[in-house]
Amino acid sequence: MHLPAFVVALFVNLGVLAAESEPSCQHLKFKHDKPKVAAGLATRVIQSGLTKPRSIKFDSASPPNLLVVESGLGVSVLVPGAQGCQDGWARKVVINNTALNHGLEADGKWLYASSSDVLWMWSYNPTTASVSGQPTALVRNMSTADHDTRTLLLQPPSDSSSGYIIINRGSASNLDADASTLPSGHSQIRRFPLPTTQLPAPVGGYDWSAGELLAWGMRNGVGLSLSPDGSRLWEVENSADDLQWKNQDVHQDNPAEELNVVDLKGGGAGGFYGYPSCFTTWSGMQGLSTGDQFSIELDKGGSGNVTRDDSWCSNSANNVRPEMNFQAHSAPLDITFYAAPSSGDTSYALNKDWDGHAFVSFHGSWNRAPPTGYGVIRVPFSSGAPVASASSTTGYAFVLQAPDLSKCPNGCARPVGLSFDQFGRLFVSSDTTGEVFLIESSTAPDASLAIRPRTLSLRYLFCSLALTIFAGAIY
Ligand SMILES: *[C@@H]1O[C@H](CO)[C@@H](O)[C@H](O)[C@H]1NC(C)=O
Ligand SMILES: *[C@@H]1O[C@H](CO)[C@@H](O)[C@H](O)[C@H]1NC(C)=O
Ligand SMILES: *[C@@H]1O[C@H](CO)[C@@H](O)[C@H](O)[C@H]1NC(C)=O
Repeated sequence: MHLPAFVVALFVNLGVLAAESEPSCQHLKFKHDKPKVAAGLATRVIQSGLTKPRSIKFDSASPPNLLVVESGLGVSVLVPGAQGCQDGWARKVVINNTALNHGLEADGKWLYASSSDVLWMWSYNPTTASVSGQPTALVRNMSTADHDTRTLLLQPPSDSSSGYIIINRGSASNLDADASTLPSGHSQIRRFPLPTTQLPAPVGGYDWSAGELLAWGMRNGVGLSLSPDGSRLWEVENSADDLQWKNQDVHQDNPAEELNVVDLKGGGAGGFYGYPSCFTTWSGMQGLSTGDQFSIELDKGGSGNVTRDDSWCSNSANNVRPEMNFQAHSAPLDITFYAAPSSGDTSYALNKDWDGHAFVSFHGSWNRAPPTGYGVIRVPFSSGAPVASASSTTGYAFVLQAPDLSKCPNGCARPVGLSFDQFGRLFVSSDTTGEVFLIESSTAPDASLAIRPRTLSLRYLFCSLALTIFAGAIY
């Protein structure tokens, strides 16, 4: 005698549900050893299995969604409030475009993302977390060998403008001689006006060379942020590998990675920041101290037939010097300023004494043994500038770092994008491990949760329904 199929399906479904409702769903775990955090902080993964997540940005929805560039895949959005094992965030791909590789920005109406060559903009609705229509090219002709990411940063409208998008374009190789001339377009930061009805973008977009020059001689400023008052542009620069100076191998601890500033008011923009001739000392160079400038004379007589030697590089009239420096080969990839929340639920927030401090991601070294970086640091700021000077090696502290650097790069998270949410929690992407994690107060309500039951997900309701229909059909 046959049991009716729907009865069989019912039993199968009950079995699935019973298995599902067991408290078997762990919180997401770090792919490798859990990073160590500074006192008073906790960290946990909120999304895993992403494809090389790079820049992350919150949109203007309420509550905000987290946009993520998945390099080689497109752009996805992490929507808060999801149930189940993704620890509160559901992923949805909003743009399939394998050329997108790093840069990302969003305002209330537009989503901006870039390939190595082109900056695209899509009409974006934060309320539905979706894009519509075809993208428009705003900037073209940016492709460069080697350093192929284009960091994007919106500069909001002011009295005199309707807003800009700032773009970093790095060098075409480790030591790129072409970068010593402006027309090469390499190792430069430029800005482009956002299109308006009064000032529409040219059909097909702006050529890279048409952008207003904000800085040049910056090897690869992957991390960009405006100061909280919007008057200055802060840049974290990835400096050179395998460097020789006066026929000595100085690469282990030199050159320093740089923290530079561009004054956006009063004609302060457009300066030359030294690359590919001038570099900054970190440590261990004969006769030079941290912050001192030195030359590799790559551009002998290149500009104006002046040899860019150590003394030329040391003259700040020729070469804008960094405001502060980081350990060589740290690979800083993003910078953001912390605005401690003063209202609402502050129980998740980082230390409020850190209000106004800069946070920088360190992707970590490959050109140094033992490795360095692989974490997120805090740079104390006061009155709009780092507290430490350019001659300091102690101007910053790790808030999170891989627990065992000897396992890096392959056994460590590699921080890339940074973004604070409205609760004062810092979100961090890690490209090689496909994760997004957050850093929050160790006393946050959710900081110490370990195991919780899996809630009944829509996926299982659908499976269940499908199985019942299928069973009904074959009976
Ligand atoms: C992106 O591609 C995936 C897989 O092909 C598809 O399921 C999804 O609908 C696409 N999303 C968009 C927004 O085109
Ligand atoms: C990009 O460069 C090509 C070749 O020089 C040129 O023909 C084209 O007009 C440029 N694109 C834009 C948008 O200016
Ligand atoms: C550098 O010197 C050469 C040879 O004297 C001259 O032809 C060239 O114009 C000079 N370049 C600059 C930028 O002054």
